[in-house]
Amino acid sequence: MTQSTASAPGKTILFGEHAVVFGKPAIAAAVDRRAIVTVNSKKSNINSNITFQSRSLDLKAELDLDKGHIKLIRGQSGILNYVMETLFKKHDGSPIDIQLEMKMPVGAGLGSSAAVTVATIAALDDFHNRKIEISQIAKVAHKVELTVQGAASPLDTAVSAHGGLIFLSKNFEIVPLKSDLKDYIVIGYTSNRGNTGEMVAGVKKRRDLHPEIMDPIINSVENITLKAKDMLDVETLNTEKMEILGELMNINQGLLDAMGVNILELSKMVYIARDAGAIGSKITGAGGGGSIIALCPGKTKDVLNALKIIENAIQADFSKKGIIIH
Ligand code: MEV
Repeated sequence: MTQSTASAPGKTILFGEHAVVFGKPAIAAAVDRRAIVTVNSKKSNINSNITFQSRSLDLKAELDLDKGHIKLIRGQSGILNYVMETLFKKHDGSPIDIQLEMKMPVGAGLGSSAAVTVATIAALDDFHNRKIEISQIAKVAHKVELTVQGAASPLDTAVSAHGGLIFLSKNFEIVPLKSDLKDYIVIGYTSNRGNTGEMVAGVKKRRDLHPEIMDPIINSVENITLKAKDMLDVETLNTEKMEILGELMNINQGLLDAMGVNILELSKMVYIARDAGAIGSKITGAGGGGSIIALCPGKTKDVLNALKIIENAIQADFSKKGIIIH
């Protein structure tokens, strides 16, 4: 191909973040905010082999695969580390232009790095006329995250590649869940970016220091996730199930706080959402910044408005689709 475009969605974690890094199950949903990556045979005549550009992120760079060097022309390099690592794994080094259109906030806990990585792999596979194999792409994307971040579960990359609402089992099996949470979930995000690597390292440190305290917390999160799975594996959520889910979210929030990933802004948003009518609210993702989710049947507008007074918020539009080849 001379041009290939692929996109992948962001995600929101409903239950089990951090515990999943210790091999526990988790539940997450793809959110229809996408990273769209286009790979073109090289037209420009700049010396370096690969050029990268993203108008939405105000980012421009030249990537030298031989030297493993990123020459930043404009913007911040964070996401480029994922692109570079992906190129090492999936590109033959021939001259190409890569364009990225980001339709989601970066560093807001919506899995932007996973979405960029998954979309880049899919675009490169299509560009090189390789078969698009979703599970394979999810696996390679997880390896990229591991290399760049030092520690990562396969959760973000699996949700981004497969789409939908999924339960990731203890042995990393992907089980699609039936429920359609449309219209019930609000995501509030702080302007304060969380650093996933640091947050994961912090929880690990506390677990190594106090295993007798942290292991029961991590095991409780596992039990919450398993109970939530039963609630969510139905076509229609009745009021009773919805209320149990809300309560499970609130308990999970308490345990995330105990793990040490809460901060003032997130705490404020969690309680503002509950005060505005959410039946459950919790941090989603790594914490330390980033986002919260709130379960608010019949109250989404109230919760959105209340959160927007102090930070940003969106109604979560879930995506049944993961990777799309455009
Ligand atoms: C980050 O979105 C979720 C964490 O559980 C880390 C991971 O699963 O890799 C905090």
